[in-house]
Amino acid sequence: MKIISSIDELRDQLRGQLRTVFVPTMGNLHDGHLSLMRLARKHGDPVVASIFVNRLQFGPHEDFEKYPRTFAADIDKLEKEGVYVLFAPTEKDLYPEPQEFRVQPPPDLGNILEGEFRPGFFNGVTTVVLKLFSCVQPGVAVFGKKDYQQLMIIRNMARQFALPTQIIAAETYRAEDGLALSSRNSYLSETERAEAPVLFRELNTIADEIRSGNLDISLLQNKAMQCLKDRGWHPDYVAIRKRIDLQPPTAGDLAQNEPLVTLAAAKLGATRLIDNLEV
Ligand code: PAF
Repeated sequence: MKIISSIDELRDQLRGQLRTVFVPTMGNLHDGHLSLMRLARKHGDPVVASIFVNRLQFGPHEDFEKYPRTFAADIDKLEKEGVYVLFAPTEKDLYPEPQEFRVQPPPDLGNILEGEFRPGFFNGVTTVVLKLFSCVQPGVAVFGKKDYQQLMIIRNMARQFALPTQIIAAETYRAEDGLALSSRNSYLSETERAEAPVLFRELNTIADEIRSGNLDISLLQNKAMQCLKDRGWHPDYVAIRKRIDLQPPTAGDLAQNEPLVTLAAAKLGATRLIDNLEV
């Protein structure tokens, strides 16, 4: 595997490749990331991964400094997955001057749910993803459904900017007890780790209720929020939304069996976890 940090070298290395498939990450790779690499291999060749902890998508009081960085272990894992190039720019490589041009996601998609609780997050994500796409020039890129809203925003960005990159969604990779794998799980204490699957359990309870005909959306959301609070969580939101645009379903939408997704974000101790489940 070639490890490249400069944009020019990356372009030289990938020149002439027409089916490059790209998996952007922030490192601290776990089995969820590796499942993205495996899916990538089915959709193109060569596979290019990136590791870059993107300051632009962290709020001033978020965990940019303490975000887990495990570069040596990440390299081993990517080598075993047959990744051809690892693009690992420094901040100087990717942002040699202040990144003043930014992507601004539309407010009805970028300022709701995660965007409401992490202002500027999707501006930072889409800006770095557009820049990484410009460096790698992939035909295909893979993103996990774990970050459901991120996936939708990147899809819409790729469509509206007519980017020549097909966006592929990968299913969320879960531990046996249901917890979605995430780099931030490493912040959890042993007791918190045992409690963490409750978030997914609550999403399943909502999905079961909806499937059995209970369409009282606000009651279902409130019940899940209360259950989390009662167990010591600090939920930001539990929201049942339309899959198509992440807006709340109207009575008409519900009557017409509009496909839904339940999304949640909640703090357990100092760790903020997110998850979602398509209904
Ligand atoms: O999902 C992530 O790890 C990040 O948001 C991404 C897409 C690599 C951009 O920094």
